[in-house]
Amino acid sequence: MNIYGKPVMFAIVAFAVIAVGTLVTTFIPLFLPATAPALQGVKPYTAAELEGRDIYIREGCNNCHTQTVRPLQPEVARYGEYSRAGEFTYDRPFLWGSKRTGPDLARVGGKYPDSWHYQHMKDPQSMFPKSNMPAYAWLAERKLDTTYTERKMKTLGFPYKTEEIKALESKTELDVLVAYLQKLGRDLKEIEKGSVVKVAEAAVPEKNPFEGNADAIKEGKKIFETNCAVCHGKDAKGGIGPNLLRKDFKYGRSDSDLYTSISKGRPGGMPDWEPKIGRDRIWKVIAYLRTIQEK
Ligand code: HEC
Ligand code: HEC
Repeated sequence: MNIYGKPVMFAIVAFAVIAVGTLVTTFIPLFLPATAPALQGVKPYTAAELEGRDIYIREGCNNCHTQTVRPLQPEVARYGEYSRAGEFTYDRPFLWGSKRTGPDLARVGGKYPDSWHYQHMKDPQSMFPKSNMPAYAWLAERKLDTTYTERKMKTLGFPYKTEEIKALESKTELDVLVAYLQKLGRDLKEIEKGSVVKVAEAAVPEKNPFEGNADAIKEGKKIFETNCAVCHGKDAKGGIGPNLLRKDFKYGRSDSDLYTSISKGRPGGMPDWEPKIGRDRIWKVIAYLRTIQEK
């Protein structure tokens, strides 16, 4: 029998072949656990984070911000670890996005202290004058509606305590949005901390190679104004971050202590600057700080 001479039969057989192929390669894997790997250590959202996520969706933040770091060197250098499939186990729907008017937010959790986010959400231009992000100050005046919180948690199967939801009644929409932003990428950072693989690091020189260099100090001042002033104040007298004019720093006062604080960041909300501005600029900003510091 020549099937090519029988168009109806050919159509039926072709349909059957494609249907079986689709079933085996698409539908069956949808229900296999291996295709939805949960990364160990990734936790479901708390009630506050989930409500914050819903506000993020309602406000369309995902129209300007992506939440996925591609495994490409420039992306990893800018945002941090590339995204793993297992990180999104609890995301329904996904918020990967495709448009980056603003930066990717997949690793923003823990990058800044809460107070930074409050100020940034209320008035982004106060921190980045050229930002085209709209202000969301009004979120701070709106009380969170918790009518459906429990139902949402149940439907998604996330663990919660009734008191946890009760406590949300006194929160504003901005509070939970900030809680959500602080969760982004945090689990992966925790997992990495426990990792046994550590990259060997180049030794930090004891002394500042730019100490007393007038050009470097001038450049250091500019670096300070663009990167550090939002948190430490224009005159370095403090704000979100501590006063940097005082002699006694919490984490030590030698050049190499300062270098470590600035390059690696500090747990209280000091970002790590080495990946963003590199070694030389960190040394230049230290050279500048030494000129304005109390003697
Ligand atoms: C019109 C586009 C636009 C919208 C809408 C928008 N943003 Fe932004 N966002 C930006 C831009 C541009 C930046 C970079 C400049 C800045 O920090 O203000 C930014 C920066 C940020 C940052 C800092 C990221 C970092 O790593 O420094 C956070 C956090 C953020 N946005 C959260 C939000 C949230 C939450 C919403 C929704 C309530 C939102 N954005 C809505 C454009 C937008
Ligand atoms: C997002 C806000 C923020 C920005 C931007 C920021 N810092 Fe910080 N910084 C902090 C906070 C918060 C602390 C306190 C951290 C702690 O105590 O754990 C801190 C701590 C420090 C310390 C340690 C102070 C001590 O007492 O030991 C130094 C030094 C420092 N920052 C320098 C800088 C420099 C230089 C820049 C710019 C390249 C910068 N910071 C940018 C928030 C910021």
